[in-house]
Amino acid sequence: MRIQLPIISVDGAARHGSRAALTCRFRCGDACFHEVPNTSANPYVGDVVAGALSRRTVMRAAAVVTAAAAAGASATVAAPRASAAEARASHASHGSRGARGLRFTPVAPNTADTVTIPDGYAQNVVIRWGEPILRGAPAFDPDRQTAEAQAKQFGYNNDFLALLPLHGEPHRQILVANHEYTDEVLMFRGYDPENPTRRQVEVAWAAHGLSVVVVEEDRRSGRLTPVPRHPSNRRVTATTEFRVTGPAAGSGLLRTSADPTGRKVLGTLNNCSGGVTPWGTTLHGEENFNQYFAGATRATDKRYGLGSGASERKWERFDRRFDVAQEPNEPHRFGWVVELDPYDPESTPRKRTALGRFKHEGATVRLTDDGRPVVYSGDDERFDYFYKFVGSKRMRKGAGRAVREHNLSLLDEGTLYVARLSGDSPAIEIDGTGKVPADGEFDGSGEWIPLATATAHGAVSHVEGMSAEEVFVFTRLAGDKVGATKMDRPEDIEPDPRTGKVYVALTNNSNRGVGSNPRPDEANPRSANKHGQILELTEHRGRADSERFGWSLFLVAGDPDDPATYFAGFPKDQVSPISCPDNVAFDPHGNLWISTDGNALGQHDGLFGVATRGERRGELKQFLTMPKGAETCGPLVQERRVLVAVQHPGEIDGATAEKPLSAWPDGPGRINRPAVVAVWRRDGRDIGV
Ligand code: FEO
Ligand code: CA
Ligand code: CA
Repeated sequence: MRIQLPIISVDGAARHGSRAALTCRFRCGDACFHEVPNTSANPYVGDVVAGALSRRTVMRAAAVVTAAAAAGASATVAAPRASAAEARASHASHGSRGARGLRFTPVAPNTADTVTIPDGYAQNVVIRWGEPILRGAPAFDPDRQTAEAQAKQFGYNNDFLALLPLHGEPHRQILVANHEYTDEVLMFRGYDPENPTRRQVEVAWAAHGLSVVVVEEDRRSGRLTPVPRHPSNRRVTATTEFRVTGPAAGSGLLRTSADPTGRKVLGTLNNCSGGVTPWGTTLHGEENFNQYFAGATRATDKRYGLGSGASERKWERFDRRFDVAQEPNEPHRFGWVVELDPYDPESTPRKRTALGRFKHEGATVRLTDDGRPVVYSGDDERFDYFYKFVGSKRMRKGAGRAVREHNLSLLDEGTLYVARLSGDSPAIEIDGTGKVPADGEFDGSGEWIPLATATAHGAVSHVEGMSAEEVFVFTRLAGDKVGATKMDRPEDIEPDPRTGKVYVALTNNSNRGVGSNPRPDEANPRSANKHGQILELTEHRGRADSERFGWSLFLVAGDPDDPATYFAGFPKDQVSPISCPDNVAFDPHGNLWISTDGNALGQHDGLFGVATRGERRGELKQFLTMPKGAETCGPLVQERRVLVAVQHPGEIDGATAEKPLSAWPDGPGRINRPAVVAVWRRDGRDIGV
């Protein structure tokens, strides 16, 4: 029987039917269709309401009510004027306005089958799936693709992107890309999902993982061109050898028949977002690893969304390690943060167990005042948690081998925390509609709850009833036990490099407040949340290693005409509509850039910039849109260039490799190829100034 094909409409808008769509099966491992894996009885934000409103809150609430009464409205988010759409159109014509870095004419929401960019900007496709990277790689030929060729070519479904300086080659940079997953029906003509061939499966293994490829800059524009066969180029795949480090290395929970040491894993899977460390390595989150495994029945597997039946791609038929019944510890070897040294193509990449095991969206780093790393990471699942790791060793400066070795050990010792949030408004005021509570803000305080500490001499658990080893391997269960706050799919997290404030993208949560699922709370205030929100977190005293924080919702996404949206208080007739914030990044001016995944407003996904400070705080402008079926990934905003990963173009209901339903990037009838796109200003000036 053939796979039931996707239920994503041709214009890219998702419809939720009774069976999983292609995108749901592969992109997130049926995240929207399988049961919510978190069935723990943790309290919600609203249950932990502060006992009494502070004087500050009462006064501000009074002011809001007075102002609202004067305007003849209730104390909800100010509704936009009737002519909001016209006002936006008028505003859109004034591209010169905006915060520095955001002075471009916003792109209108659309369903065009192209990357639409602002007037005055140009773009090029930097590199596509299948382009040769390593010596000996053949030219891409989808009908003669082999695993050997794919392992030397750019992988599939590019997600996170990093650009690093290449020492001694001033007009070149090292591009590092994640390849999150494979869309077999779009990759192979004649693909039968019930009977994949060994060749197809092995190509898919080689199309996963990471790519490292040197790119050359055009000196007069932002154009980037790959440099094939450069000695720094590298591919990491689902079969590359990794070393396990940190407190769970060697654990009995990680040992398999192929690796009795529990220290050597083949491959990395479902690398979604990531980060760049201050010591010049890259981090890569292993996200929806559950979808690659078959035959899982244990409660610990279910908590991670693994299923008991066959896997979607049937890999278990070709390598027994993907059959949990045969190799029960193999799934414990995925779901980690991976660290890669892109400056050493011979190095063995590491899986850092001190950062915990969950569906890591990404991992982003800030240093404490005394130079220790703090890593933020979200667990992308409905009603799951977000975390931070505080390292105990200081980063050293310098370029020598000893310094490098020291810095490559920084993520193995420290304490892993999970976030618990409290709202400061009465629970009764959070009614699920998005109506702002009487104090005028969705806000409150929070604490980082320690789960376990790893040291050079062993690890200590802070969770009653769980050993340190269990905390690091079954981190979701540790979060359940300590009462972490169930969030609306925590995705990418980005600390502002200037202010230290931390921005958490919460993509959506179709189940919030639905049936017996947890009800809305102040940090996740909308029932059946289709559009998501962005939370702004302020560490106590601005210290990255603090165990307390304050928070407020910076953005409540959706159509600005919808009263349940909020753009940090900026006038809503002057912002772009946005839905499903996913990856976030800062530009050199301190603006936050947000890419989206799964626009529920009927438009294609896109990339947006928003000011986080000053009088334009909350002014959100759309910079580009995606082709049909594509998700915007890996945004990277440099002074003269915006880089995006166009992931899964053409991933649309009914599409196949024989009959693509998007013409991107190479024209009608050609196979869709995920690719990296660079955008720059035609006049050669900096982006958005
Ligand atoms: Fe791979 Fe959570 O996005
Ligand atoms: Ca409040
Ligand atoms: Ca993502």
